[in-house]
Amino acid sequence: MGINILGMGSYVPGQKLTNNDFTRFIETNDEWIRTRTGIVERPMAGWEPTWYMGLKAAEKAVQRAGIDPKEIGLVISTTATADFHTPSMASIIQDKLGAANAGAFDLNAACTGFVYALDTARRFVETGDEKYVLVVANESLSRFLDFTDRGSCILFGDGAAAAVIEKSSKLYSSALGSDGSGGKLLCARALNVAPEVRTEAPDDFTDEFPDMPLHKLFQNGKEVYKFATCALPRSFELAAQKIGITKDDIDWFVPHQANIRIIETAAKKLGAPMEKFIVTLDHYGNTSSASIPLALNEAIEKGTIKRGQKLALIGFGAGLTFGGIILEY
Ligand code: COA
Repeated sequence: MGINILGMGSYVPGQKLTNNDFTRFIETNDEWIRTRTGIVERPMAGWEPTWYMGLKAAEKAVQRAGIDPKEIGLVISTTATADFHTPSMASIIQDKLGAANAGAFDLNAACTGFVYALDTARRFVETGDEKYVLVVANESLSRFLDFTDRGSCILFGDGAAAAVIEKSSKLYSSALGSDGSGGKLLCARALNVAPEVRTEAPDDFTDEFPDMPLHKLFQNGKEVYKFATCALPRSFELAAQKIGITKDDIDWFVPHQANIRIIETAAKKLGAPMEKFIVTLDHYGNTSSASIPLALNEAIEKGTIKRGQKLALIGFGAGLTFGGIILEY
């Protein structure tokens, strides 16, 4: 039992940072960023709250789905960059959208969030409990980037994308995974801990990385890179083996958009041509959980991805998490 993606929408803020913009405050250059990551520019939220971008994307998705917001039974918002610890982004979006009959919660699986949320949503429609579920991926990573760390701040962008799904009998398989032992390789502290008790807290990540900044994204780029190049093919293979299909059956791979070299290495490991991979990171950067649906929506809007084609959505991210969904569009 699978899902039908009834309608999708996306929203990115109008402001952006180009590679050259970074040369004003860190030691870097356009050539280094392009060749090491494939990124050219990335949207920046500025004044726009995370939920606002999510709402804009959700409005388009609902309109394209051709349904009344009151028919939505559940709103799941994926974010690692919520505007509030509480209320959830999902509750704010549910209200502003007029989804008066929907439940709402946030889901945080970092950059793998959309894969996790779509698979969670699938279970709600599969049981028949809800007819339509809205998944909204919205992220403002710029809010917790350490703009003095040239190894991480150049990677990320802000944006949102949303999908309305319903039950269907189309092809579907999924696999979700996590290796929490790698949590400290990519993290940002939520609540403050007094410096005098910080080092006494069990498993405090600062034991290993004393320079980790409070409330800013900390990343061990090399280790995350190694994890990512294995996690992407693994996410596909775990989902594929459940339904006995191979990479040759897939029309389009829609990978998490972190670094072009990660995607190229994953393609090689899978033995699939790069031409089958949707790439949007050049103009969006890494938008965390919004990256896969932003890429998916753009490819649908351009007519690259067509109804009836088989897709593999494959992601990885902080946690460390990973996950894949194979579905027919
Ligand atoms: N501009 C110029 N030089 C930079 C730079 C930048 N923006 N960032 C790092 N460098 C420098 C380093 O300081 C280092 O200099 P040194 O040799 O003098 O010490 C040199 O470039 C090489 O650094 P290194 O870390 O080996 O580069 P890399 O090829 O591994 O690329 C990343 C770094 C971050 C691009 C890469 O490791 C990566 O993409 N990792 C995965 C990150 C990721 O995807 N995170 C999100 C997961 S959801």
